[in-house]
Amino acid sequence: MMNLNTVDKYIESNKDRFLDELIDLLKVPSVSADPAFSKDVHRAAELLASRLKEIGIDKVEICPTAGYPIVYGEKIVDEKLPTVLVYGHYDVQPADPIELWTSPPFEPVIKDGKIYARGACDDKGQMYMHVKAVELMMKTDGLPCNVKFMIEGEEEVGSDNLGLFVKANKERLKADLVLISDTGMIANDVPSITVGLRGLSYIQVEVTGPKRDLHSGLYGGAVGNPINVLCDMIASLQDENKRITIPGFYDGVIEVSADERAQMAKAPFSEAEYCKELDMKATQGEAGYSTLERATIRPTLDVNGIWGGYTGEGAKTVLPSKAYAKISCRLVPGQNPDKITKLLLSHIEGMAPDSVKVKVKPHHGGQPYLTPTNFTGYQAAHKAMETTFGKAPLPMRSGGSIPIVAMFEEELGLKSVLMGFGLDSDAIHSPNEHFGIFNYLKGIQTIPFFYQNLADLS
Ligand code: BES
Ligand code: MN
Ligand code: MN
Repeated sequence: MMNLNTVDKYIESNKDRFLDELIDLLKVPSVSADPAFSKDVHRAAELLASRLKEIGIDKVEICPTAGYPIVYGEKIVDEKLPTVLVYGHYDVQPADPIELWTSPPFEPVIKDGKIYARGACDDKGQMYMHVKAVELMMKTDGLPCNVKFMIEGEEEVGSDNLGLFVKANKERLKADLVLISDTGMIANDVPSITVGLRGLSYIQVEVTGPKRDLHSGLYGGAVGNPINVLCDMIASLQDENKRITIPGFYDGVIEVSADERAQMAKAPFSEAEYCKELDMKATQGEAGYSTLERATIRPTLDVNGIWGGYTGEGAKTVLPSKAYAKISCRLVPGQNPDKITKLLLSHIEGMAPDSVKVKVKPHHGGQPYLTPTNFTGYQAAHKAMETTFGKAPLPMRSGGSIPIVAMFEEELGLKSVLMGFGLDSDAIHSPNEHFGIFNYLKGIQTIPFFYQNLADLS
């Protein structure tokens, strides 16, 4: 029987090692998006696999895929006990712009109680909490549930190969639920559990005007400038209320009930602090929705990058031949990423004036997901956080995406519990990403109670 005393004592006497081990993992620049780091991504998988073996996990395997491998391992203590499938990722986002980091992204440092490094929060720090929590249980009162680890190296690039792995390994992945720490909570003194993830649709647009760059004096005014045209097209995708104008875009969107919106509005949130933290005078977004709602329960359309023409020093008078943009939509329950991607493709190609040619290609996408609050997995997490934080966690929808989560439900029939310990201010995907030592240790402390509660509730 797990108790707070045992858990705290083990953490207290091992926390320096817990930190050192995480630091070792953070030193490996496992950037999945950039082939230059390919060796390092493999090295991170090997390090993780050896750490799983060290704590006594069985059948540890580095499973090759067409891309980066999946690290698998399991500990079955009793077939009759519930089985937790732990999912996480050991790959990280690229570190650039490097010059904005106050310390090098792959040389972790501890400052003001936080560990600074790329991947500290997303997701090495949060994923490794599970390894250490399982160690803690095995070294103290024993595992109250069976556990299977499935840690991938391609989350930040769309998890395509994990999808294939899941389909091909249904027997091996049999479990009662999936447990994931790859999200955040409201604040260190306001615990919350993520109950919703948005989906994603991502495309790239290429606009071609004249067949070569032109002198903007000789041709300017008479020729379709692909950058101007691209900007016009993008601007027309949203109206003055910041509603997306693509016909059919909102079809099927499941509106959040007034009741749930009222619940959401109770979460502590300050518009002024939000603006201050981001150094903005004001927020903006879809009319009729609060900032928190716009960022979690509403679909969006954003340009992630736009380029073309002359961007070097000084001024070159040129009318460019080509312009490009990367555009993403965050999707909510009721929307289908494949359908939205097709809509985007045909709408954008169809709206092009005759002065240009437009090509649109799809990138990766992902389904939205909702975790029900009335199943044992959610209740086990709720009770665990209540024990370790001393107050009940709030259910909260997140605006981010973890594309594979919907597939766990579709292919394995498993619901996912999104018990994350990060904070919005941890700067994931940004320079100076960090993870609080408080949060890291809180995760290691809370996870054993999740296992105990799940065993008790089952
Ligand atoms: N861990 C994040 C997603 C996340 C962060 C969800 C915080 C909720 C709260 C994940 O690693 C991520 O970055 N996902 C990508 C999607 C992927 C297809 C690149 C995203 O949301 O942009
Ligand atoms: Mn992540
Ligand atoms: Mn990420």
